[in-house]
Amino acid sequence: MDYNLTPWEAKGNFDYERIIKDFGISRIDAKLLNRIEVAAKKKGLPLHHMLRRGIFFAHRDIGWFLDEFGKGNDVFLYTGRGPSGKVHLGHLVPLLFTKYLQDLFGAELYLQFTDDEKFLFKKELSLEDVRKYTEDNILDTMAIGFDLKKTKIIIDTKHAGLLYPEAIRVAKKITFSTVKASFGFDNETNIGSIFFTAMQAVPAFLPSVLKKRNIPCLIPHAVDQDPHFRVTRDILPKLGYYKPASIQCMFLPSLLGVESESKMSSSIDNGIYLSDDEKAVRKKINKYAFSGGQATVDEHRKKGGNPEVDIPYIWLTFFEEDDNKLKKIHDDYKSGKLLSGEIKKIIADKLVFILNEIKERKEKLRHKLKEIMGSLDKSF
Ligand code: TYM
Repeated sequence: MDYNLTPWEAKGNFDYERIIKDFGISRIDAKLLNRIEVAAKKKGLPLHHMLRRGIFFAHRDIGWFLDEFGKGNDVFLYTGRGPSGKVHLGHLVPLLFTKYLQDLFGAELYLQFTDDEKFLFKKELSLEDVRKYTEDNILDTMAIGFDLKKTKIIIDTKHAGLLYPEAIRVAKKITFSTVKASFGFDNETNIGSIFFTAMQAVPAFLPSVLKKRNIPCLIPHAVDQDPHFRVTRDILPKLGYYKPASIQCMFLPSLLGVESESKMSSSIDNGIYLSDDEKAVRKKINKYAFSGGQATVDEHRKKGGNPEVDIPYIWLTFFEEDDNKLKKIHDDYKSGKLLSGEIKKIIADKLVFILNEIKERKEKLRHKLKEIMGSLDKSF
């Protein structure tokens, strides 16, 4: 089956092998994993479970980025969020990984909140709606535990004066035919949307502009954002900057299952949000999570379940760090020892634990929101 994958549409059967070929990205191989593991060890960190399990599966130029870091050169990280609603578990995947990278590289992180993008691309959203989500999303994001001193928040409309002169330098080098081919735009697309990729390109070189020297950039994101950075990588050398490197993950599938042809997305209202309370998390999992279990307990005990399609199990591969625990769950589920209701409880417990930690940190950060939103202003 075919797929359609742009930053604004993700539908179909995600055959990641094919996406690698179609997008021209590279698989993260054993040699690269080893290099990352060596660097992580120096910081007392393990190789992240999302790397061990191939969830972060592809990259552009990460070898170069590791070389630069290895030489002792300054490097930085860049990722972002489009504030079109509440932050959900899918968004959490690259964010948790970015926190690991910040610890590993001890690097500055630039977090872009593309309020302009969500206003332009979502008919139903007013600028006021998007602004409200932006503040809430910033708190959720920072509550993941980023280093406050090393993290700068970019809000496109708030920091327009800083971003716009750089964005037009990028935009001047991108033709309409390039964005049409990269993003599937047509003559009905509004002109703000056509321009937008230039805004998402800017944080990949903004620190180099501010610090007046070229600094290597690494961008963690899910594979849907790659078209932006394919364009960015084409343009930046023409402006005298490095191409940014990227490290890319697969999608956390929706609760409805991998066959439902969808990633977890804000447009599907059974998503799990960081703000959901324990009751809501348990209810959504019990009610909607696609199960690889058998129809009756008897049958399940006899035939066993299928972890490959079971959403609670698949989600555990994203969120349960402990390989031994995960293997036992896998084996017990497959043999029929662990029932569908039991594996649902395991993933629900894990998520409730993660979300409670984030919520606690969010409350502690709330009074610092203004300061956090102004973190970039001190840089220029
Ligand atoms: P947004 O808000 O759509 O998504 C934020 C980040 O979450 C990733 N993502 C997912 N990852 C795993 N499973 C899912 N189901 C899932 N759904 C979304 C996205 O790939 C993204 O990494 N335009 C961007 C905001 C942005 C950005 C960036 C993102 C600006 N600069 C640099 C990444 C890197 C957006 O709307 O993301």
